[in-house]
Amino acid sequence: MADAVPTTLFLNAAQTITCAGPGRARRGAEMAEAGVVAGAGVAVQGERIVAVATDDTLRRSYPNAAEVDCGRRLLAPGFVDSHTHAVFGGARFAEQELRASGVPYMEIARRGGGIHSSVRDLRARNDDELLDLTVARLGRLAAGGVTTIEVKSGYGLTVHDELRTLRIIRRLAGEGPWRLVATCLGAHEIPLEYRDRPGGREAWIDTLCTELYPQVAAERLAAFADVFCEPGVFTVDEARRLLTAARGYGLLPKLHADELHDGGAALLAADIGAASADHLAAIAPAGMTALAASDTVATLLPATMLFLGTGRQAPARQLIEAGGAVALASDFNPGTSPLQSFPLVLTLGVSQLRMSAAEVWIAATVNGAAALGLATITGQLAVGYRADLAIHDVEDYRELPYWFGERLCAGSWMDGRACHVTP
Ligand code: NIG
Ligand code: FE
Repeated sequence: MADAVPTTLFLNAAQTITCAGPGRARRGAEMAEAGVVAGAGVAVQGERIVAVATDDTLRRSYPNAAEVDCGRRLLAPGFVDSHTHAVFGGARFAEQELRASGVPYMEIARRGGGIHSSVRDLRARNDDELLDLTVARLGRLAAGGVTTIEVKSGYGLTVHDELRTLRIIRRLAGEGPWRLVATCLGAHEIPLEYRDRPGGREAWIDTLCTELYPQVAAERLAAFADVFCEPGVFTVDEARRLLTAARGYGLLPKLHADELHDGGAALLAADIGAASADHLAAIAPAGMTALAASDTVATLLPATMLFLGTGRQAPARQLIEAGGAVALASDFNPGTSPLQSFPLVLTLGVSQLRMSAAEVWIAATVNGAAALGLATITGQLAVGYRADLAIHDVEDYRELPYWFGERLCAGSWMDGRACHVTP
């Protein structure tokens, strides 16, 4: 009997964007298939979606169900923000002005600022303080309709502080109605105390491979390992060594690849079968061809390029036209993307990356989930998927990227649990 389990029906949507399809990354032309339907609702039992059908069919099938009135607004899957650095201390607004005055991002790092200044800051704060700061930030992301968030470490840069950050991320998972995925980014930079002594670089890489990764794995603190592979930070050879070691401990590879300069990182990502290659604003044609032919998701972070003011964006159209799978994420971090309003990423996807509205929706749901190994779990309104959904105060899915900078999410649910709902 369908009604034996308590059921909730989401009814009276003006439009429903399901993003339904195969439980894997959508590539090339598939990215335009976002499953936009009128008059469809969703039935939820416990943490899962049990039906997607017309309102009448759902009412007949589940006569005793509770109802959520979508109020002639848009019903959609919860967003998957598959790339954030949300655990940090304070803001870094002084660098924004420095860059505006002509000092490049990498030069600020060379002077001991940038990532290094967030490292000093994080090391000086206690766990509870970092937890509270991050809960508030994740809350703002969630308020934009994000139900799954990847969070990286990377501002600790000692074994102790990286483990501490990852343990905070584990605690954060219990603090809110969000699904969190942790990534170990111990290879975010060479810490200054290593950088400034002979042999220090190799010593830090050794420490990551022989101490940090095994301990992260032993405590099951992360699913992924990531490396900032960029000229001036980690080389392609170093990244290969780091990610190979990490994989030996069960941590799946991800890469910050070809963000500011092409260094061949996208080629490495495709070669080692990374779950995703992220950034790619400076990717070369060979990297594009390799990524498009691989299962690695190309995760683009247009807010970062906008905020850095580089005047450059990743070649999303070329990647899609070559048959690649593109995801969009916020890159939320204190240096290059202090962005907590996720729908703006969709705006930039259309206006800066020249993606269609359907493509940006797929990139921010199904393909974000695929970049986290969750493509059969979340990112779609489809039977068997987790009940991760959101109502947005628009009538058409194309309006969410259009009303840029607005807060339009009227409510969201993760695993069927209400995150925040405004009538
Ligand atoms: O994705 N590129 C490396 N990591 C971050 C920036 C980190 C920072 O500046 O604090 C990024 O852009
Ligand atoms: Fe990043």
